[in-house]
Amino acid sequence: MIAELDHIALDTAHTRRAYNRTARVYDAMEWPIEQFAYRRWRKALWRDVTGPDVFEVGVGTGKNVAFYPEGVCVTGVDLSAEMLARARCALERHPEKAAVLHLMDAQQLTFPDNTFDEAVATFVFCSVPDPVRGLREALRVTKPGGRLRLLEHQRATAEWLGRVMDRLDGPLHRLSGVHVNRRTVEHVRAAGWHVDRTEHLAPFGLYRRIDAHKPPSSTRIHPRTPTS
Ligand SMILES: C[S@@+](CC[C@H](N)C(=O)[O-])C[C@H]1O[C@@H](n2cnc3c(N)ncnc32)[C@H](O)[C@@H]1O
Repeated sequence: MIAELDHIALDTAHTRRAYNRTARVYDAMEWPIEQFAYRRWRKALWRDVTGPDVFEVGVGTGKNVAFYPEGVCVTGVDLSAEMLARARCALERHPEKAAVLHLMDAQQLTFPDNTFDEAVATFVFCSVPDPVRGLREALRVTKPGGRLRLLEHQRATAEWLGRVMDRLDGPLHRLSGVHVNRRTVEHVRAAGWHVDRTEHLAPFGLYRRIDAHKPPSSTRIHPRTPTS
């Protein structure tokens, strides 16, 4: 257990360093896929967000800012100060959007239980070292009945491709802080969310939209011990 916690702490430091390093070129690197697909998916997801108090996990460089709906107030967190600095610039470009940003680890949130009406994350839980712990924290700070809306890439549904992704995961993670073989739908359930809908956005289930809600009967939830 102690060894596992140490492993998560080391991995979290690695993820932070990786995103601090990448922040400068992140938007340029993502530009083609952003134009081709992400933009459209973000737009559709945020159209469904009603809040009014919304928690965004892993705001990154603030690519969702332009899509924050009128009338919602977003509280965003990110692990990387460099990514967050860019998100602050995105907010300056959109003074009409209501948002506050914090440097914070999604696995250890400082917000009280049942604070937000809704939680959103786009392409984040592939990087959070202990995704179930992060998702459980998101559940804790969301009000009973509140929604979780995710866009995520994850392990392919085809086993042969899944195995290729398993092989690539170690080297890619060391390089970028990202895991390519996550089973995020299972992690969402394991964290205590009720999954309402998953939509395959790309072949082999490589990209998914996941909609879930916090069961109304959820009581106070303590962070679990970490697993891979
Ligand atoms: C692939 S980027 C996605 C950024 C943004 N959501 C987007 O859609 O462009 C992943 C983000 O998650 C953040 N992240 C990773 N682990 C985190 C953690 N434990 N707590 C908070 N943010 C985390 C990274 O710093 C990075 O900004």
